[in-house]
Amino acid sequence: MSTTFPDGFLWGAATAAHQVEGGNVNNDHWEMEHAPHTPFVEPSGDACDSYHRWREDLDLVAGAGLNTYRFSLEWSRIEPEEGEFSRAALDHYRRMVDGCRERGLNPLVTLVHFTQPRWLLHDGGWTGAKTGDRIARYTEFVAPILDDAAYVATINEPNLMATQPVMARMAMSGQEIKGLPRPDQEVADALIGLHGRMTDALRGVRPPVGWTLIGRENIAEDGGEDVMRAERAAFEDQFLEVARGDDWVGQQIYTCARFGPDGLVAPAPELHTLAHGMERRPEALGAAVTRAAEVLGGNTPILVTENGIATADDEDRIRFTTDALTGLAAAIEGGADVRGYVHWSLLDNFEWMLGYRPTFGLVSVDRTTFARTPKPSLAWLGEVARRNGLV
Ligand code: NOJ
Repeated sequence: MSTTFPDGFLWGAATAAHQVEGGNVNNDHWEMEHAPHTPFVEPSGDACDSYHRWREDLDLVAGAGLNTYRFSLEWSRIEPEEGEFSRAALDHYRRMVDGCRERGLNPLVTLVHFTQPRWLLHDGGWTGAKTGDRIARYTEFVAPILDDAAYVATINEPNLMATQPVMARMAMSGQEIKGLPRPDQEVADALIGLHGRMTDALRGVRPPVGWTLIGRENIAEDGGEDVMRAERAAFEDQFLEVARGDDWVGQQIYTCARFGPDGLVAPAPELHTLAHGMERRPEALGAAVTRAAEVLGGNTPILVTENGIATADDEDRIRFTTDALTGLAAAIEGGADVRGYVHWSLLDNFEWMLGYRPTFGLVSVDRTTFARTPKPSLAWLGEVARRNGLV
């Protein structure tokens, strides 16, 4: 089996604004992090201070030999009050796009990575009647800085975002959160609509436009086939169907879901990684990409926009990624049209409700000085990128 990748393959590392920038005081997550009964274990605070240290971050990516950097724009910095757009924030992100190009990196830019401005949260949020117009206006405002991006993603993991209201309702009513709840269809429909408005607003920009979906390997244990089929149809396929009409689609794959006759089967504790009780399952990457390619019917190029593992053991990160890439190479050989692999994450960063404990980074970040220390996995992935294949 070949472990080389197609010519021109993108090799990168990813971050997202709220998880690394620090000081995003104007968004919904900041508010949730500080709510009296917050489910967040700690607030994001200064995060990795990447709003100021982004040049150092880009140097790390380029210096390692990678050719792609994925980052996101923070809507609440760009439009902190409704209709008040910040030129300075837009210029900041323009400098990041330029900074990537100056270092030979392809910028992959996400416009919405989970967060929304507070003013939007309090006036309808993702399902609000005016949100379509508002997101179109935001997208039009940022469009001029996107011409030099290599790829543009509208919304990150809408399929996961659509399950969050369900999870929030369960948490607030004191119910135990078991497995992956099905999406709230109203939110799913709203996000699909917003993606359409954003795609329309981006018609004039040069780079290909798509969205990035969480994927997973689905495994039916004895008697679990029907449950698995139903979950798959609800959680994944409607979002992939939307992507069939797009220029590209992102797949973000960490793990598998195992289905028994009564629903999800929890992985054994010894298989848990440091985040979200996820099973350590490198094989999921190739399996999920293969299935996505089938649903897409060969019409839409795929980019792996996230894959990685939360672990304190960097040697295991290398083993995990080696196995995941072996599966990805097999999926490509089997016919999946995959254009790149972007690792989550460049930095140990703010893992949402779990705070700073899960370490997904190729680089560690000192929580008091913000000093960056590359782990061996960064140099290793750079070497894979230089060879365009596994070492
Ligand atoms: C997907 C999300 O896009 C990202 O924000 C998150 O940190 C990783 N998964 C790891 O859970």
